Amino acid sequence: MSKEASYGRFFSSKAVGAKASMIRELFKALGKEDIVFFAGGAPAPESFPTALVGELAEEVIRDKGNEALQYGMTLGQPELREALLEWLIRKYGFKGDDLDIIITASSQQALDLAGRVFINPGDYIAVESPTYLAALQAFRYYEPKYVMVKMDDEGLMPEDLELKLRKLREKGRSIKFLYTVPTYQNPSGVTMSESRRKELLNLASQYDFLIIEDNPYSELRYYGAPVKTVKSFDDEGRVIYFGTLSKILAPGLRIGWAVGPKEIIRKFEVMKQSLDLCTSPLNQLIAWKYISEGYLEKHIPEIIQLYRPRRNAMIKALQDFMPEGVKWTEPKGGMFAWVKLPEEINTTELLNNALSKGVAYVPGESFYPNRDITNCLRLNFTYEKEERIRLGIQRLSQVIEEALRS
Ligand SMILES: Cc1ncc(COP(=O)(O)O)c(C=O)c1O
Repeated sequence: MSKEASYGRFFSSKAVGAKASMIRELFKALGKEDIVFFAGGAPAPESFPTALVGELAEEVIRDKGNEALQYGMTLGQPELREALLEWLIRKYGFKGDDLDIIITASSQQALDLAGRVFINPGDYIAVESPTYLAALQAFRYYEPKYVMVKMDDEGLMPEDLELKLRKLREKGRSIKFLYTVPTYQNPSGVTMSESRRKELLNLASQYDFLIIEDNPYSELRYYGAPVKTVKSFDDEGRVIYFGTLSKILAPGLRIGWAVGPKEIIRKFEVMKQSLDLCTSPLNQLIAWKYISEGYLEKHIPEIIQLYRPRRNAMIKALQDFMPEGVKWTEPKGGMFAWVKLPEEINTTELLNNALSKGVAYVPGESFYPNRDITNCLRLNFTYEKEERIRLGIQRLSQVIEEALRS
């Protein structure tokens, strides 16, 4: 076949429809000295306990080499599943006898599994507005219809969800599940209040749907009391909880988990078999040592110490430099702040200008399934160091000021 030939005729209609994530594209700007990079969601490499992971890997190969290099069980290595469940029950108060856990190739795989297990084309699911863009990418493949739930400073608004559930019920329809990132949300940085978590569970019971609680960030807490998970209030087995080591150890290990009722986790297991047979046993055993030997609990405060001043530097710079009419969230944890510009400014159109002035962000429209809200943007504050954060926000403020003038 000639080099110019298109292979499009071989692609499935789903492959033809698939679009590269804007963030993956933006990664091309990563590592360029002249661009301050607020576009990622990647941890700062200096947060990785590299030497320790090396030692743990050596021990695993020495003591459990055959297990580490062999295929493992689809559910995951029993040592890791046990250590994680113990940690989750102790730390987050998960309750009930009907709990099971599956290890996944990080949360992204759990999101895909949720799509496989729950969504038929045309099924309704509810998501926060805005929501995590790679969740939308994962779900899109299974062709759901979306119910968008409004948010304010206390997270998603149960009264808005109820209004929409009632309307669906009038049409004889309901949602299969609600997907939420309730704590230090990606992208907005907002945290759902405890009372709303309980209201949400009441609605799930009343309108008979499941809740997927995706919680990669709750350990990255810079201010305020620990936030209780939605799962900890779950008396009916309606919450499926996703966690990951990506932000509290290293995303390169690709270790995450889904916890929920046994019947659901069994379905996740069956669906995962055809995806990858199992998550890397070598990486799982490294993770098991990291958790069970107490390194995780020791390491989290170190990450917080690294990130808290970066978060503060960003908020201070936003206060110092942003022009009138621009609003932003002030997250107490996590990795992101969300900026809202006056409606006439389209942040996708603004991006090229920002890149040319030396600053990268993610345009907000990617975080809405219909891409219909165009005046917001997401800023990551954990990747760059404080001085660069200040410089980047100064640059971004100038770009926005120019756009407002013209
Ligand atoms: C809300 C949310 N869910 C899931 C993920 C995926 O993380 P991983 O697949 O590395 O566990 C991320 C990563 O940024 C995230 O922000």
